[in-house]
Amino acid sequence: MDEKPTMIIRSHNNNHQLWFAILISFLFCTLLICFDYSKTFHTPNNNLLTFSLNKQQNTDSCTNRYVYIHNLPSRFNHFLLQNCHFLTRGTDKTNMCPYINNMGLGPEIKNHNFEGKNDNVLVPNNTWYATNQFLLEVIFHNRMKNYECLTNDSSLASAIFVPSYIGLDVSRFLWVSNLTVRDSSGFELVKWLVEKPEWKRMFGRDHFIVSGRISWDFRRQFDDLAYWGSKFRFLPESMNMSMLAVEGSSWKNDYAIPYPTSFHPSMDNDVYQWQNKIRHQKREFLFTFTGAPRPELEDSMRGKIIQHCRGSSVCKFIDCSYGVENCDNPVNVMKVFENSVFSLQPPGDSYTRRSIFDSILAGCIPVFFHPGTAYSQYRWHLPKNRTKYSVYIPVKDVKKWNVDIEKVLLGIPENEVIAMREEVIKLVPKIVYADPNTKLDKFEDAFDLALKGILERIENVREAMREGRDPSVGFADEDHYKYTFSGEKY
Ligand SMILES: *[C@@H]1O[C@H](CO)[C@@H](O)[C@H](O)[C@H]1NC(C)=O
Ligand SMILES: *[C@@H]1O[C@H](CO)[C@@H](O)[C@H](O)[C@H]1NC(C)=O
Ligand SMILES: *[C@@H]1O[C@H](CO)[C@@H](O)[C@H](O)[C@H]1NC(C)=O
Ligand SMILES: *[C@@H]1O[C@H](CO)[C@@H](O)[C@H](O)[C@H]1NC(C)=O
Ligand SMILES: *[C@@H]1O[C@H](CO)[C@@H](O)[C@H](O)[C@H]1NC(C)=O
Repeated sequence: MDEKPTMIIRSHNNNHQLWFAILISFLFCTLLICFDYSKTFHTPNNNLLTFSLNKQQNTDSCTNRYVYIHNLPSRFNHFLLQNCHFLTRGTDKTNMCPYINNMGLGPEIKNHNFEGKNDNVLVPNNTWYATNQFLLEVIFHNRMKNYECLTNDSSLASAIFVPSYIGLDVSRFLWVSNLTVRDSSGFELVKWLVEKPEWKRMFGRDHFIVSGRISWDFRRQFDDLAYWGSKFRFLPESMNMSMLAVEGSSWKNDYAIPYPTSFHPSMDNDVYQWQNKIRHQKREFLFTFTGAPRPELEDSMRGKIIQHCRGSSVCKFIDCSYGVENCDNPVNVMKVFENSVFSLQPPGDSYTRRSIFDSILAGCIPVFFHPGTAYSQYRWHLPKNRTKYSVYIPVKDVKKWNVDIEKVLLGIPENEVIAMREEVIKLVPKIVYADPNTKLDKFEDAFDLALKGILERIENVREAMREGRDPSVGFADEDHYKYTFSGEKY
C-alpha cells in the first residue's frame, strides 16, 4: 500500500514539484483572473485595476490561500450551542453544555502534572482541557475566524468555508425514526447555499465543511429505517462539496483529519516542553488497551484484544465502560498511555478512534489491525511510511486470528522502538489543534495541515474544471479505497 503513490501524496511530499505547480497555476490563474476581472468589474480604468491586482498578488503571501466564510443563519451553528442542553454525547444522557466552553475546547484542566513517573513538571495553564471529540467543528470554526488570510470578497477566495455544525445538528436526529426529520436540516443547508452567488462559481466544488462526527453518519444510502444516519452527503449539492471529518469514507470528497485531543498549546514552547516530558517518561507497561468491552461483539476484534490484554502481565487494560473508569477525564487516559510503550488500536464501532491521537500525544506507539483505522485516513497528518511510527498486525479473519501480540511486540528490537517513539513524538504538533486564539510559530498544527490539504484539493478541482476534465477525477485514489475498505486486499 505504501508503494502505491498517488498524485496527492507525490505533490504533498515533493515541495519543489508542488511549488513549481503552484507557480505555473498561479501565472496561468493571474492571466485568467485579470481577464475575468476586466470583464466583470466595470471600473472606469480597467488597466489600472489589472495593474494593481497584479502587484498585490505578486507580493501577497495569502495568494491562493484566501478563504471566505459564509455568514450562515444562526440555526446552522450558534443556535445549537445556545441550546446545548438538547445535545447529548451519544447514548448517555450527559449534555454538551460544559464542552462548548472555551471556544469548544471544554473545561480547563488546571494545575495538573499528569503524574510523570520521574518528574513533577506542572503543565502550563491554558493548555489542557476536557475536550469532547464532537466539538471539532466548533474548534475548527473558531480557529478559522482567526485565520490570517480571510477575505470578505468571495471572488478572491480560493475556498469557501461553510461553518455549519453538522455533526452536532445531526446528533439530535440520528436516533429519530422519522427519516424526513433526520434529513431536514441537511436539506435546508444546501437550499440556503445554492441560492448564494458563491455557489454558481464552481457549483459548490470550492466549498468545504467540517464535522466532528464520522462521515458515515451522513451517508445513509437508502430511505430505510434499517440504515444509519442522514443522507446529507448524498444530496447532489453536498456531493459537490468537500467534508473534513474525524473519519473519512470511501467517497472521494470526504477527508479525514485528526480527532481533537485534550492538549491545545498556545505557543511553541508548550509543545517543546510536552515533547520533552514524554520523551523521558518511564514506561512500566509494554502495551495497553483503553476501551469498553462490547458483550454483543464477543468475537469482534475488540473482544479478542481485550482477552489478549487481560491475559498478559505486561498489558494494562483500562475498561472505559460507563461507571468503571472515567475515560472522559483526559488525565486518566494520558496517565495510562504515558506509562505504556505501545497501545492497541483495533477498529471499534467504526474504523477510527480518538484514542489513536491520545496515544500519539503521550508518545505511545500505536498498533493497528486494519488499514482503515489510520493509514488510509489521515494522509495529510500522518507519515506515508507507516512502519516509521506504528506497528501493523493485519487481521483478515477475526475468527481464525491467533497472533500472540505480546510476542510480536517483545520481538521488536529496542533501537527500533526508540526510533518509532521519536517519530511519534515528532507527530505531536501535527495532530493537536492549537488554542484557537493563537497560531504556533514553528509548527504546523492539525488545523494548518488540514487547511493546506483542502486548499490543494480544491485547487486541483479548479484546474480540472478549467481544463474541462471531470472535476471529481484526479483528487481521489480509488485503488487505495478498494484496497482498504473492502477488507480484501490488505
Ligand atoms: C495556574 O493558575 C492558577 C490560578 O488559577 C495558579 O495558582 C497556578 O500557579 C497556575 N499554574 C501554573 C503552572 O502557572
Ligand atoms: C469582514 O466584514 C466584517 C463585518 O463588516 C468585519 O468585521 C471583518 O473584519 C471583515 N473581515 C475581513 C477579513 O476583512
Ligand atoms: C415525519 O415528519 C414529517 C415532518 O414533521 C411529517 O410530515 C411526517 O408525517 C412524518 N412521517 C411519519 C411517518 O410519521
Ligand atoms: C455539481 O457540479 C457540477 C459541475 O462539476 C454541476 O454540473 C452540477 O450542476 C453541480 N450540482 C449542483 C447540485 O449544483
Ligand atoms: C519506512 O521506514 C522504515 C523504518 O524507518 C524503513 O526501514 C523503510 O526503508 C522505509 N520504507 C520506505 C519505502 O521508505
